[in-house]
Amino acid sequence: MSEPVFEIPAGVFSEKVTFVQHYTDRLFKFRISRPSSFRFRSGEFVMIGLPNAEKPIFRAYSIASPSWDEELEFYSIKVEDGPLTQHLQKIKINDTIIMRRKPTGTLVNDALLPGKRLYLFSTGTGIAPFASLIRDPETYEKFETIILCHSCRNVDDLKYGQDLIKLAQEDPLVGEVVSKRLKHYQSVTRDKFEVKGRITDLLRSGKIFSDLNLPKISNCEDRGMICGSMEMLKDTKSILEDFGLTEGANNNPSTYVVERAFVD
Ligand code: A2P
Repeated sequence: MSEPVFEIPAGVFSEKVTFVQHYTDRLFKFRISRPSSFRFRSGEFVMIGLPNAEKPIFRAYSIASPSWDEELEFYSIKVEDGPLTQHLQKIKINDTIIMRRKPTGTLVNDALLPGKRLYLFSTGTGIAPFASLIRDPETYEKFETIILCHSCRNVDDLKYGQDLIKLAQEDPLVGEVVSKRLKHYQSVTRDKFEVKGRITDLLRSGKIFSDLNLPKISNCEDRGMICGSMEMLKDTKSILEDFGLTEGANNNPSTYVVERAFVD
């Protein structure tokens, strides 16, 4: 029996998958063609879905590519009975992805006041918006040093971030600033690794600062962005507030911003 064919809903982009890479049985990345009229700010997210039903399911995905890229990259979890990811994890090159037209989000340079250092705190697929921001020249105009923190359950879950840093260091546009001014700080909670522990514990104990040879976070010099699970956001927010940082928004820039890593 052939698969039913559904019409693409009105008002959405219909794009082709150009690349798929599976990292673990829980994580994969993929890229799609970029509509020529589609503009976004590095760090924003967009709603994507599959044309596999009369009323397709859309989920918010952070765009992991920089705003100047010709394609759009996404980094996703795979959930066996996840409404979208149970199907999305099976996509192949040339399959169709549908995408709503309007990107949005708070993990953008505009929502932060300038500062000396920018800390990007992520767990799991929460690294995706930062994959965009660390390749945007504007980020390096606004901040002297960028610290990309990525904490995961297992060592294999760090591979996406490690590949990302390698690619960013070789990038003709930002490679030089990335090599000189980006620090990559990784930790793992459920395997043996050189840095063990949740990012929240590493911040509270001060280990992250001694490892990186940096002063404790202060509201004069440091800015933060947070992306992870609801619990991770709550706990990391409260630590940043104890350091004196306050939450910003697009229309009210301040010293830190948060966004949930949406896909479940
Ligand atoms: P842990 O292994 O101790 O649960 P997940 O895949 O569940 O989103 O977790 C990704 C990473 O985030 C894991 O290393 C996990 O640690 C960590 N994590 C989970 N909850 C929190 C939290 N409230 N604050 C900081 N890190 C967290």
